[in-house]
Amino acid sequence: MNAWNSGRMEGVELCLVRTPEGEERVRHPAKVVPSIATNRSGKQVKHTDMIATGLIIGIALVALVVLLLVKNGRRPRLRVNGVLIVEVDRGVRLMNALAAQGVLLPGTCGGKGACALCKCQVFSGGGPISPQEAPYFSKEAIRDHWRLACQVVVKGDISIRVPDDLLPPGTASLPPE
Ligand code: FES
Repeated sequence: MNAWNSGRMEGVELCLVRTPEGEERVRHPAKVVPSIATNRSGKQVKHTDMIATGLIIGIALVALVVLLLVKNGRRPRLRVNGVLIVEVDRGVRLMNALAAQGVLLPGTCGGKGACALCKCQVFSGGGPISPQEAPYFSKEAIRDHWRLACQVVVKGDISIRVPDDLLPPGTASLPPE
């Protein structure tokens, strides 16, 4: 086989060889050129660069999913008057979560949202006020985050304020946020 000419086609180095049957273009045995693609701006990009970019994006996505799983997997934190911070069960009623910590809001309706005695301020993590609660509050009170604790379900980290005299003995509130 006697190579005397060469050329390129689709990322492969070709050479022209003379054989007893005539001439033939074949893949050059020593030169394989990396295949080339173009990006959106028409610039040439090596496949190795595209693979590296894909790997980086993949790792970032996996890290994001792990972060979300960890955050959603841990128990929500209940913060009361800025001082009492405890972990509580997701899905529990706020009034029950408070009672478990010795913070007893008043109530005479058994948590049915009918007596409106279990009022407290929910600054974050309580979701929007429900139709059951809204009739008990003025627009100004709703703007000031007042809610019925028996109607608030803990879905994530939650920050609230109750009257100071309901806090466990020896616990002093921090100023409002
Ligand atoms: S306990 Fe009666 S409204 Fe909440």
